[in-house]
Amino acid sequence: AKRVRTHHLRELKERGERFSMLTAYDQYTAGIFDEAGIEVLLVGDSASNNVYGNETSLPVTVEELLPLTRAVSRSVRRALVVGDLPFGSYQASPEQAYLTAVRFMKEGGAHCVKLEGGVEMAPQIEKLTRGGIPVMAHIGFTPQSEHTLGGYRVQGRGETAERVLADARAVQDAGAFAVVMEMVPGDVAAQVTRELVIPTIGIGAGAGCDGQVLVWQDAFGLRTGRMPRFVRQYADLHGTLLQAARDYDADVKAGTFPAEEHTF
Ligand code: KIV
Ligand code: NA
Repeated sequence: AKRVRTHHLRELKERGERFSMLTAYDQYTAGIFDEAGIEVLLVGDSASNNVYGNETSLPVTVEELLPLTRAVSRSVRRALVVGDLPFGSYQASPEQAYLTAVRFMKEGGAHCVKLEGGVEMAPQIEKLTRGGIPVMAHIGFTPQSEHTLGGYRVQGRGETAERVLADARAVQDAGAFAVVMEMVPGDVAAQVTRELVIPTIGIGAGAGCDGQVLVWQDAFGLRTGRMPRFVRQYADLHGTLLQAARDYDADVKAGTFPAEEHTF
């Protein structure tokens, strides 16, 4: 299987074909999603609240994300692997961003990195791109800025649509190869997608984007509880694993596992 490269996503957009992206944080999920034909795997800072047990993405560190990134990049044959730069590891300066991104490429084996922000992150995006690191931007609702944005809220409604458009243009001009749009009204996201030459990837941004991304624990039902409106649940892994664990527990306690065939 030929590797997915950044230019392939651009070519898909030019042909009017959609592509898909999922998060992945370990060997088996990465291998399965790769086998399924998912073009892009994101080792998201969402590992913070989907792997490390935090409530938000803010606490996760570079040191925590690098080993997950390495596990995913080692486990794919075809998918493009995106390393997600965590909060505080790139905002201070283009130099800080470059040094962090280099670690994701060298130590994590990522093929590119993602960072949050539009107009204000243009210097970072330029620095990385010139230094040989492809950048996926992330605009609209940006979870690392939750406390500045005032919580999980749709961005770009009404007059603020101009802000999303300006951010989209800025990241493209700075050299980003793609842009994630999170929680943006569908018509705004569609307009951005028509206007940009680089692919757009939506999460809560409607069907008008070139690609879509979801956190896999949400999409496949490993996580339970209140889901954002933009999630469709494709499986019930929570239920499957819960039942399996209960069956195992019952067998052990009944003395029916291990059986003769499991015994030397
Ligand atoms: O960290 C993450 O999972 C993300 C996606 C939801 C885009 O940034
Ligand atoms: Na993220």
